[in-house]
Amino acid sequence: MNNGIISTMNQESRSLQRKYQITAWFYDFLDYYWERQYRLFRPKILGVVSGNVLEAGVGTGRNFRHYPATTNLTGIDISSNMLRIAKKRARKAPCEITLIQNDSTQLIDMPPNYFDWYVSFFMFCVMPDDIQHLAVNQIVRVLKPNGRFLILEMIYSKDEKLLRRQKRFKPFVEKVYGARFDRQTLQRFQENDYLQIEKTFFVKADVYLMIEGKKNPSSFLYIKTESHPVKVLLAK
Ligand SMILES: C[S@@+](CC[C@H](N)C(=O)[O-])C[C@H]1O[C@@H](n2cnc3c(N)ncnc32)[C@H](O)[C@@H]1O
Repeated sequence: MNNGIISTMNQESRSLQRKYQITAWFYDFLDYYWERQYRLFRPKILGVVSGNVLEAGVGTGRNFRHYPATTNLTGIDISSNMLRIAKKRARKAPCEITLIQNDSTQLIDMPPNYFDWYVSFFMFCVMPDDIQHLAVNQIVRVLKPNGRFLILEMIYSKDEKLLRRQKRFKPFVEKVYGARFDRQTLQRFQENDYLQIEKTFFVKADVYLMIEGKKNPSSFLYIKTESHPVKVLLAK
């Protein structure tokens, strides 16, 4: 696993990494109640992907068994302890899986214009708003022109009863997972000129929000990061 990421990680990712190094020990246990719902929609969402797929924030690998066999999956996470559990699930998956410790705001050593799909479930809701654009920029960099993204997030409900419940859980969810219901993830994607949102819909209630779209193929983009001094992302 790649420890080279640690020296270049921003403070926010570093702090999330520390949290998940601990949370990993009881993550599957704590998440059991919610996972019973998630496992109903994970296969429906993932059934369409194929080719080179990057899943960011794989966690303990809950998505793995739902990928079609035609998928060549690269899974990343900042927490080596989460990846250790994911590794066991990867052995039983129907597709090829490579796991790498990496930060989605940097994607060190990930080639540009390489992936057909970018998938992420419940990762942006744990990332502070002010670093989310870095991860979104990396999506632009690593996706092929017309490459597609599938982002699953959770947001506050407009239903009063549900909202009250979410507010009750808020301190727990934030403390244990670093997750919040009020992240500006959809806005971060909307602000990016190189990504096109094609569809947003709820997979359950008005809480679990899917953001679906593709990389716009008709532009040049240069990104400067520590790991990729200057990269040409795509040309028309
Ligand atoms: C709430 S868990 C979701 C796990 C999994 N996607 C699922 O659906 O069960 C969030 C995961 O994102 C990872 N994560 C948070 N920030 C990250 C970053 N900057 N780069 C990569 N992974 C990150 C955490 O370590 C954690 O495993």
